[in-house]
Amino acid sequence: MPLPHPLQRQLEQALHATPHVQVLPQSAHIGALITGLDLRQPLRAEEIATVRAALLQWKVVFFRDQPLEHGQHIAFARQFGELTLGHPVFGHVEGHPELYSIAKHRKANRHAGQAEQRPWTGWHADVTAAHNPPAASVLRGVTIPPYGGDTQWTNLAAAYAALSAPLQGFLDGLRGEHRFAPPAGTQATAEYLQAVRQHELVSEHPLVTVHPETGEKVLYVSPGFLKRILGLHPREGRVLLEFLWEHAVRSEFTVRFKWEPGSIAFWDNRATAHVAPSDIFALDFDRQLYRTTLVGQVPVGADGRASTAIAGDPMLAAHGAAY
Ligand code: SIN
Repeated sequence: MPLPHPLQRQLEQALHATPHVQVLPQSAHIGALITGLDLRQPLRAEEIATVRAALLQWKVVFFRDQPLEHGQHIAFARQFGELTLGHPVFGHVEGHPELYSIAKHRKANRHAGQAEQRPWTGWHADVTAAHNPPAASVLRGVTIPPYGGDTQWTNLAAAYAALSAPLQGFLDGLRGEHRFAPPAGTQATAEYLQAVRQHELVSEHPLVTVHPETGEKVLYVSPGFLKRILGLHPREGRVLLEFLWEHAVRSEFTVRFKWEPGSIAFWDNRATAHVAPSDIFALDFDRQLYRTTLVGQVPVGADGRASTAIAGDPMLAAHGAAY
């Protein structure tokens, strides 16, 4: 019989106050479908508490049949915290500074103009190259292929917990450099690469963070952005990174979500990594989603040391920015 999750009691109490809401787990460690809410309406305080408790325990929560307009999407996300500007490198949807367009060919964001951007990040947590990466993201599906185009998430707290105590102890004191840069050999347009160069974003984060709300230790690896481990010889660092990337996305820590128009995925960006689908490029179907991100704090490591900014600005609330 597995031990109850330490956050389970909090979720049970929240559910007690919202009997019309159901939280249906989708795998052993990560992902729950929430039913019984209409996200077009403002949520009651106890409903917000249930969604928040489900998010903290299950790391990503899903909703179906929520035909939200852009404004309703933004209003829903704002009930959980301040929102950032769409994306620090690629900008935002015209007229909606909080919204980032994720389309198959990613053309609809303002900084990048009409430059075609083929996603290259592989497994990642959102914008961990920033000093204060987003706390959470809310992704809404609008145009969804009939098959293909699924997204996967992995639980990085479960990944840390599954490591041996000696390796946990070693990683607890290490830090890594996260940089917003495509991997070597990535094919991208000159305009796309220019947008990346113009918005240099580099930070040093602990390899193991302490989640600011749950207190869980998190294996803070974001494979698309984490480029090197500080203090190790290059070969040691490369081999360790290869191991950690492979370990962090072992199938038992993951969940896979099949989108429908009107689906929403809301994930805790401090405790997960995710991967956008690449199979859509083998299909003719279009795919269009929109994302908002919640302002996050500067991460703090298991050794008590906070992350350090190396290049670029912190991710501020959208209402404080010029647009
Ligand atoms: C993202 O990386 O935030 C988007 C994931 C997706 O396109 O499925």
